[in-house]
Amino acid sequence: MDKLYSLDNRLQLCASLVRPSARLVDVGTDHALLPIWLLKHGKISCAIASDINSAPLESGRANAQKYGVKNIVFRLGAGLSTILADDKITDAVIAGMGGEVIAQIISDSGLARDKDLNLILQPMTKSEELIAFLCENGFEIQKQKCTVSHGKCYTVISASYSGNAVQADGIFPYIGKLDLSDEYSLLFLKNHIKHLENKCKGDKNYLQILNELKRLVIL
Ligand SMILES: C[S@@+](CC[C@H](N)C(=O)[O-])C[C@H]1O[C@@H](n2cnc3c(N)ncnc32)[C@H](O)[C@@H]1O
Repeated sequence: MDKLYSLDNRLQLCASLVRPSARLVDVGTDHALLPIWLLKHGKISCAIASDINSAPLESGRANAQKYGVKNIVFRLGAGLSTILADDKITDAVIAGMGGEVIAQIISDSGLARDKDLNLILQPMTKSEELIAFLCENGFEIQKQKCTVSHGKCYTVISASYSGNAVQADGIFPYIGKLDLSDEYSLLFLKNHIKHLENKCKGDKNYLQILNELKRLVIL
C-alpha cells in the first residue's frame, strides 16, 4: 500500500470545515483525494465520492485501492442527485467548481435544504454569485476562510439551510464572512478589487462597489 499524501492548502481548508465523524459526500470528487485523506486520518465515518463523469470516478476508485480505503462508495451522477435519504449524509463538500455551478447544484437539490446538512463550498470563481445565491435562498453562511495554494488565493465557505432569505446586495457578496484581519482573507478581497477594476473599464455599474471595497482595504 502506498504512503498517504498530504493535502494541499486548498483541500486542507475544506477538510478542516468537515465535522468530526461526518457521513460525507464529496460532489465532483475527481481523484477522491479529500475523502480518502479524511478516512485514512479517521476524521469521518464514511464517504460517498460522487462525480458527473466516469473517468474521474475511475481515478478515485484507483486511489481508494492504492491507499487501502474501504468505507468509501463511488456514485456516478450530477450534483447531489446521487444521494439518497438512507445515506444519512451529514456533510457535503462541493469544491473545485465555479461559484455558479455550485449554486446550481444546491438549487437543484431538495437534500441541500436539510437544516442539519453542513455544506462546505469552495468556488474557483464567482464566489460573490454563490454568496448572493446562498443568502437570497435561505442559506446561512457560518464560516468563510481563505488560504493560498500553489500561489493562488482560495476561499472556502461553510453554510447550512435556515429558511431565512436575506437580500445580498452592494458589497456584501464580496465580503461575505471574511475576517479582514486575516492576511489571506485580505488578499482574497484585494483579488476581487483587481477583478472589479478590470470590469469597470467596460462597465461603470461596478464603480460604487469597487470604491467601497477599496475604502475597506485602506482602513
Ligand atoms: C476540478 S475537479 C475538482 C476536484 C475536487 N473536488 C477538488 O476540488 O480538487 C471538478 C470535478 O467536478 C466534476 N463535476 C463538474 N460538474 C459537476 C456536477 N454538476 N456534478 C458532479 N460533478 C461535477 C467534474 O467531472 C470534475 O471531476
